[in-house]
Amino acid sequence: MKTELIVETPTHKWLYFGRDHEKNEKIIDTNQYLVQSGSQSLLMDPGGIELFAPMLASLVRQLPIEHITYLFASHQDPDIISSLGLWDQTLPKAKLYSPWLWESFIRHFGMNNIKFEPIDDEGGKLLVGDVELHFIPAHYLHSSGNFHVYDPVGKVLMSGDVGAALEDNNADIYVDDFAKHSQKMQFFHQRWMPSNRAKDNWIARVRSLDIEYMCPQHGRIFRGDQVKQFLDWFAALNVGITN
Ligand SMILES: [Fe+2]
Ligand SMILES: [Fe+2]
Repeated sequence: MKTELIVETPTHKWLYFGRDHEKNEKIIDTNQYLVQSGSQSLLMDPGGIELFAPMLASLVRQLPIEHITYLFASHQDPDIISSLGLWDQTLPKAKLYSPWLWESFIRHFGMNNIKFEPIDDEGGKLLVGDVELHFIPAHYLHSSGNFHVYDPVGKVLMSGDVGAALEDNNADIYVDDFAKHSQKMQFFHQRWMPSNRAKDNWIARVRSLDIEYMCPQHGRIFRGDQVKQFLDWFAALNVGITN
């Protein structure tokens, strides 16, 4: 599995994990992200049950595993969090931050040790080591209870399924040609995002944030001006349609 440093500040760093070469081709490729600050870390959208072993192997090369103190699930999907039952045995003292709406569903993935910390609809903040991260509401994008994670110091937005593209698992991790890349995003957004109203609401909220890196759970990372290009592209796209 590919591991890359995205941003490093004096207080913390963002790491990328993905492009797993062992992956079955019928399983969607996923990106995993970790914010590490001192002896605390937040692992975001840790992935499906089949990804647990390669993720654990990649993570132990980067940090002592007990330094993963927090998990985050942007929503309830299996590609996000079906590995939970295995993390529950590996990190029994960790806490999982996730939309309050999904608690009674996410517990079906197996949760005996990890503590569920529900995020209220309006979002919230979490201090990880020396960095304060913000949970940004992204409801109905695409899940009815859905959050993204914003880091105002590193200027990173982990945008879950927003900005996702269907890529093969040896693709570069950064967007190069936006126009070409948008073709790989169009179907995903039109079909998986159900609401133009929710989309417009999210775009207005995100335009007010200072973002250098927008990191989706599938596809490639947007940098610099590509973030605004994405927001303009998404604003013009009609979503919630089947053809
Ligand atoms: Fe999803
Ligand atoms: Fe996804």
